[in-house]
Amino acid sequence: MPGCFQQSIDETVKEAKSIYKLGIPAIILFGIPEHKDEKGSDAYSDKGIIQRAVKAIKDSVPELVVITDVCLCEYTSHGHCGIVKGGKVLNDPTIEVLAKEAVSHARAGADIVAPSDMMDGRVSAIRDALDGEGLEDTPIMSYAAKYASAFYGPFRDAAESTPKFGDRRSYQMDPPNRREAIKEAALDIEEGADIVMVKPAMSYLDIISDIKDSFDVPVAAYNVSGEYSMIKAAGKLGWIDEKRAMMEVLTSIKRAGADMILTYFAKDAVKAL
Ligand code: PBG
Ligand code: ZN
Repeated sequence: MPGCFQQSIDETVKEAKSIYKLGIPAIILFGIPEHKDEKGSDAYSDKGIIQRAVKAIKDSVPELVVITDVCLCEYTSHGHCGIVKGGKVLNDPTIEVLAKEAVSHARAGADIVAPSDMMDGRVSAIRDALDGEGLEDTPIMSYAAKYASAFYGPFRDAAESTPKFGDRRSYQMDPPNRREAIKEAALDIEEGADIVMVKPAMSYLDIISDIKDSFDVPVAAYNVSGEYSMIKAAGKLGWIDEKRAMMEVLTSIKRAGADMILTYFAKDAVKAL
């Protein structure tokens, strides 16, 4: 993935400092553990990569908002977003683990937790678990409408999280389905989501707009790895003006109704702005 690297904790702290200096208000962390296993145990270990990274960042740049991605795919040896048995991803056992993961991220100092797994009922399980630990002030940004997309390729490469068998279509959404996004967002909000996210962004501007029109919570949009890498590649080949194309895409995401954008272009965009 162009310009994106796996970083150690000390490098991440340096990066966080420069990001904050540039005027970017928040970052999201994805953890890649030393060892992946069947259950993704590094995800909820208090000594996990994310838990240690969050502490280090909050110690040195406390004003930078730190969001953590809550999922299992970066931590499991099979690369799926949940607990697998007999070749199937199991919903209910997975949400228990995700709740433990979210609590452990929040305890380490995460300002916002962002479940990206798409299991049913995970927002309420995470909300209950956080509240039970006295973490009722930690907001949940849920990946509410997350489609089974071809645009995740570069991220999976970077995070070594490509599923070893099958695909994610049993838990991610079907791209032609528009109304289901409203249903997914409504459920997440009912369960306690404070911010709902649409992912990917560029090919799903109608979904961003639908959700913005239907609910009063902030809407986030994830400008994903494939959307970013395409523009980088075409820019490098001299086929498009990279900076203009980037700003046009980000503007279209705002125009559709996103209150916030998660994007690998953040540093480039803030410089251009
Ligand atoms: C899964 C997850 C995905 C991304 C981040 N976490 C999607 C997937 O692999 O199915 C993709 C992000 C991107 O492409 O930028 N929890
Ligand atoms: Zn996942």
